[in-house]
Amino acid sequence: MPLTLVIFGASGDLTSRKLVPALFQLFRKQRLPEGTQIVGFSRTPFSDDAWRQALAKSTQSFNGEHFDRAVWDQFAAAIHYQAGDIDNGGAFDALHARLRELERSGSDPATRVYYLATAPQFYEETVSRLGACGLADEKNGPRRIVIEKPFGSDARSAHQLNDALHRVFHEQQVYRIDHYLGKETVQNILVLRFANTIFEPVWNRNYVDHVQITVAEEVTVGRRGSFYDETGILRDMFQNHLLQLLMTTAMEPPVRFEAEAVRDEKVKVLHAIRPLSAAAAATDTLRGQYRGYQSEPGVKPDSQTATFAAVKLGVDNWRWQGVPFYLRSGKAMSCRTTQIVVQFRNPPHMVFDSQPAHACDADQLVIQIQPAEGIQLHIQTKVPDAGMRLRQTDLEFSFQREFAGVMPEAYERLLLDVFQGDASLFARADEVELAWGIIDPIVSAWQQTGRPPLEIYEPDLWGPASATEWMHRQGRQWFDTCPVLS
Ligand code: BG6
Repeated sequence: MPLTLVIFGASGDLTSRKLVPALFQLFRKQRLPEGTQIVGFSRTPFSDDAWRQALAKSTQSFNGEHFDRAVWDQFAAAIHYQAGDIDNGGAFDALHARLRELERSGSDPATRVYYLATAPQFYEETVSRLGACGLADEKNGPRRIVIEKPFGSDARSAHQLNDALHRVFHEQQVYRIDHYLGKETVQNILVLRFANTIFEPVWNRNYVDHVQITVAEEVTVGRRGSFYDETGILRDMFQNHLLQLLMTTAMEPPVRFEAEAVRDEKVKVLHAIRPLSAAAAATDTLRGQYRGYQSEPGVKPDSQTATFAAVKLGVDNWRWQGVPFYLRSGKAMSCRTTQIVVQFRNPPHMVFDSQPAHACDADQLVIQIQPAEGIQLHIQTKVPDAGMRLRQTDLEFSFQREFAGVMPEAYERLLLDVFQGDASLFARADEVELAWGIIDPIVSAWQQTGRPPLEIYEPDLWGPASATEWMHRQGRQWFDTCPVLS
């Protein structure tokens, strides 16, 4: 079935940095449906040709070595531009006419995908105009809508956005992107857990002491200061990416890899997470701000916005009762690393009594999401020729070593899934609202009680010093290791 992709916010960053480079890769790999047309819609006046040329430049800089001018020219023939203002109903009628015109040559009705790459304040209006012009109507083929985070800024606004979407589209037509789910290494968590038999029997409270999920970024807020200052780390990273990683790690096996089955299991995890009271937020969370943040462009000079947070969550179900999930993320940290550490319990009894107790580090499974991509199992090993001295060593799998050069960008997989109508890797309405239900109480506790205090941390470390002490007090320690890429 031919495909028409309409990108709203076509002159923005997301389109040039992520969407078009991913579409070009799909074209290069011959994965775009036959008869694909791409139509950009935004206010900036461009002719088709001018837009194609601007995209050629940006795609070349983002696709680097994979950019081939001759292939680009074939791809670019399917790119069109329609200038228009989201506030203007007439512009949507003109868009509708253009789409009909473009689709006229195809013999089959086209699947239409509307991609909202605009600023979030335009989401509701765009959706309602699509509805008013009959653009959501499925009489002439499937109609889907793709929407980028942020899905609201709290549970109430997320609910309002979902209502606006549901007034025009059925939930099955809606694809909410969390680009973390498009990462191969995140999808591989499901494969690791559910396509192998050796991990599942130990993946529970009987064997696991705790789980750490870290998304550390070296970058600062850069040019996004004014957005970030209103948003903060909890809304920017926890409500979506970190909770997605938690759900993927903690969920029960779905009956099959199919959208509703997968999302039902993820939603059950969110239901099982105990929202933190203000008192619990004071002891079970930490917040920090990197030194220098207040002088970033767009940031208020007395800003109290957190650029680092650590949160301890409990998942109240049979599998995870009593196993803390420690989530932490921050900007201006030591290195860029996203990793999930499953920390197993100590052996119940140490038979090697030559071994001092503290030196026996319990086993750890480290799932490296990025930039290292792979899995390490840290286990105890006998040091040769040293009596019964033990040392922790690694069993390691690396995507790069095993599948050199084939890791695609997250958006390639996600766009292809939308085109094929597979929503397994997209967030459902209830999932988004429940995730806010976990984050909102922490945001309000911080605002209302001022506890825990906001701690200034030096860039290039692992966040505030208190984060280390906080873990030590709980008899645990962060896995503060910058991954070695291999
Ligand atoms: C985005 C956040 O959703 O994810 C950014 O808004 C963050 O602040 C980015 O930098 C991180 O994505 P990735 O794929 O680079 O880890």
